[in-house]
Amino acid sequence: MLQFEEKILHNVSLKQMNTLNIDAKAQNFMYINDIKDLFLFSQMYKQNLQSHDVRQIFTLGEGSNTIFAQKIINAFVLKMQIKGKKIIKEDEKNVYIKCFSGELWRDFVIYACENNYSGLENLAAIYGTIGGAAVQNIGAYGEEVKNWIDSVEVFSVKDSVFITYNNKECCFGYRDSIFQHQDGGEIIYSVTFKLNKHFVFNNSYKILADAFNNCEKSSITPLQVAQKVTEIRNNKLPNPQKLGNVGSFFKNPVVSFTLYEDLKMKYPDIVAFDDANGKKISAGWLIEKCGFKGKRIGNVSMHSKQALVLVNYGVKDVEELLDFSDMIAKQIKIKFNIDLIKEPHIVM
Ligand code: EPU
Repeated sequence: MLQFEEKILHNVSLKQMNTLNIDAKAQNFMYINDIKDLFLFSQMYKQNLQSHDVRQIFTLGEGSNTIFAQKIINAFVLKMQIKGKKIIKEDEKNVYIKCFSGELWRDFVIYACENNYSGLENLAAIYGTIGGAAVQNIGAYGEEVKNWIDSVEVFSVKDSVFITYNNKECCFGYRDSIFQHQDGGEIIYSVTFKLNKHFVFNNSYKILADAFNNCEKSSITPLQVAQKVTEIRNNKLPNPQKLGNVGSFFKNPVVSFTLYEDLKMKYPDIVAFDDANGKKISAGWLIEKCGFKGKRIGNVSMHSKQALVLVNYGVKDVEELLDFSDMIAKQIKIKFNIDLIKEPHIVM
C-alpha cells in the first residue's frame, strides 16, 4: 500500500505539461516510467481504492494535442515517460523498430532519417510522443503515420496484460484510431514501425515537391526531406515553446458533394481536396474567409500565418479560449453551414 501512496501525487499543476499552457491541476497523478509502474497502477485500479478515483484515466504524452477544459481535472492523469527503442526484425527491404510510447515523436523521426530508414520524413517536427502519434494518426504533407505502423502494444489496466493490435485492428482514420474511443483502460506501451530501407520520396504535397524541384531525384535523402519539412513548418507554425498552441485546432471538415458544389458557386476560390466520403474543405480557408486569420480577442487569436492554429497569449481561464473557438465555429456554421469539430483531445 505504501508503494501506491508514494507514487500518487495530488493537485499537480499541468501548466508545463501542455503546449497550450492551460493552467489546470490533476487531482490524482502518476508518472509512468517503466513497466513496474504500469503493474502497480493496475493493481491499484483493481482494488479501486476509495481515496483515488481511477474510474476515468487520461494518459498524457507531451500534451501537444490536449485541452484541459477544467481547472481541476477529474480523470486520473498518467504521464507516460517510458523510453527506448530497438530494431526487432529486418530484411532486405524493411526494418521493424519497436519504440516505447514516451519517446518524443520528432526525435524518433530524426533517428529514423539519420539511419536512412524512410517513411516518416514528411512527418518531421511534429510535437508529441510516440503514443500520441498512434492515438491521433498524425498526418502532414501527404503522409499519415498509419502507413508506417505495423502494430501497437497496449497494457490493459483492468486485466494487467499486454495486448497487440495489428495495423488493421487499430482502425486508423483521419486523425482517428480505435484508441480515441476507449475509456483509457488500455494504455499504449509501444509502437512497432515498419520502415523502408529504400527511399521513395513522397512528393504528393505541392509545397514539398516544389522545394526539391531543382534536385536530382536520386540524390535526395530522408534526412534532407525531414529538414525541409522542419523549415516549412517553422516558417508557418508558431513554436509552442514560445507561444501556446496545439497545432491545428479543428479538423478539416468533410462535406457532401452537393454542399461543396453550392459553396464553389458562391466562393470559387474555396480550397478543397478529394476524400472517400465527399470533399474535405480546408478549415484554415473557412476561418480566414470569416476574417479570423490573425484576429486577436483578449488573449486568444487564430495565427496570422495559419488560420487553423489557435494561439494562447495567456488566458487566465480556459473558458476564454473555448468561448473564442466556439464563436468561430458558430460563424462558420452560419456562413457555410459546416460544423467544425475540434481536433485536440478535450480532457475534463
Ligand atoms: N489555407 C488557407 N488559409 C489558411 C490556412 C490554409 O487558405 O490560413 C488553405 C491554403 O490554400 C493551403 C491549404 O488550405 O494551401 C492547406 O493548408 P495547409 O497545407 O497548411 O494544411 P491544413 O489542411 O491547414 C493540415 C494538417 C496539419 C498539417 C498540414 C500540412 C489537419 C487538421 N491539419 O493542415 O496538421 O501540418 O495539413 O500537411 O489536418 C496538426 O494536425 O496539428 C497539424 C498542424
